[in-house]
Amino acid sequence: MPRHTTTRALVTGAAHGIGRAIALHLANEGAAVAVLDVDGQGVAETARLIAAIGHPTFAAQADITDATALAAAFDDAEQALGAITLLVNNAAFSAAGDLAGIGLADWHKEINVNLNGTYHCLRSMLPRMQARGGGVVVNIASVNGVRYFGNPAYSAAKAALINLTQSVASEYGRHGIRCNAVLPGSVRTDNITWKIRQQKDPDVFKKLARWYPLGRVAKPEDVARAVSFLGSDEASYITGVALPVDGGLLAGMNVMIDDFILESKPD
Ligand SMILES: NC(=O)c1ccc[n+]([C@@H]2O[C@H](COP(=O)([O-])OP(=O)(O)OC[C@H]3O[C@@H](n4cnc5c(N)ncnc54)[C@H](O)[C@@H]3O)[C@@H](O)[C@H]2O)c1
Repeated sequence: MPRHTTTRALVTGAAHGIGRAIALHLANEGAAVAVLDVDGQGVAETARLIAAIGHPTFAAQADITDATALAAAFDDAEQALGAITLLVNNAAFSAAGDLAGIGLADWHKEINVNLNGTYHCLRSMLPRMQARGGGVVVNIASVNGVRYFGNPAYSAAKAALINLTQSVASEYGRHGIRCNAVLPGSVRTDNITWKIRQQKDPDVFKKLARWYPLGRVAKPEDVARAVSFLGSDEASYITGVALPVDGGLLAGMNVMIDDFILESKPD
């Protein structure tokens, strides 16, 4: 029995990469899925792929930093599919870089999209879910939200998103709303950050793999499976958690152990 036959999901940032994979995975598990993105062409293509699976879908072009346009898009999605039961806050932006190099405009943009934009989504959706007696939210944060891996503005926003997840879980649990965060490590997508890094070094994903105890970077589907679980009734007593989906990256310092602590190395 598919997990999501009664789910009506809305996935933000679903025109590409992880968001598209989440939307398709939920549809494959039986959900009706609304997809939203600032990229109208990309999100229309995701909706076409969902329709090809044979599930109801709705594509909305909207910028999550525009609270008014976003609320109107949520209205349209609910008009088309019925009340949304699962919100996946996936849309994000990063120009990468380091703290010394980041300009003020990029700092503001990254905080605005990644934190404020997600807040707009919550602000519009939580009262709807509360009025209907419940719902589920999954926020796509990052391992960057708990450790330094570069991208300081993005990381600060993701750290705040983990805390915001706890606020929602704590305040809205009594209204039947669960809220959890997923923390991916490196995921092989064609987002702008990875494009730039691959231009600099075509072997970037291969080199990164040694940092991951499981020996590889993630596929978008690895994240989608975790979202599907947290968004389902199988996770009905789980709220307020930040679940790493990182192949063990946060568990330890593999590369340091391999390079400097030699006891376990064969002679
Ligand atoms: N790829 C990785 O290695 C990685 C690692 C950790 C976390 N993540 C997180 O996973 C999620 C998806 O990442 P991805 O790699 O698929 O990125 P991506 O850039 O491919 O997808 C992000 C999507 O969000 C959309 N978007 C950006 N700004 C928007 C806005 N203002 N309004 C609406 N839509 C907007 C983009 O158009 C794009 O389709 C993000 O939350 C990201 O932070 C990714």
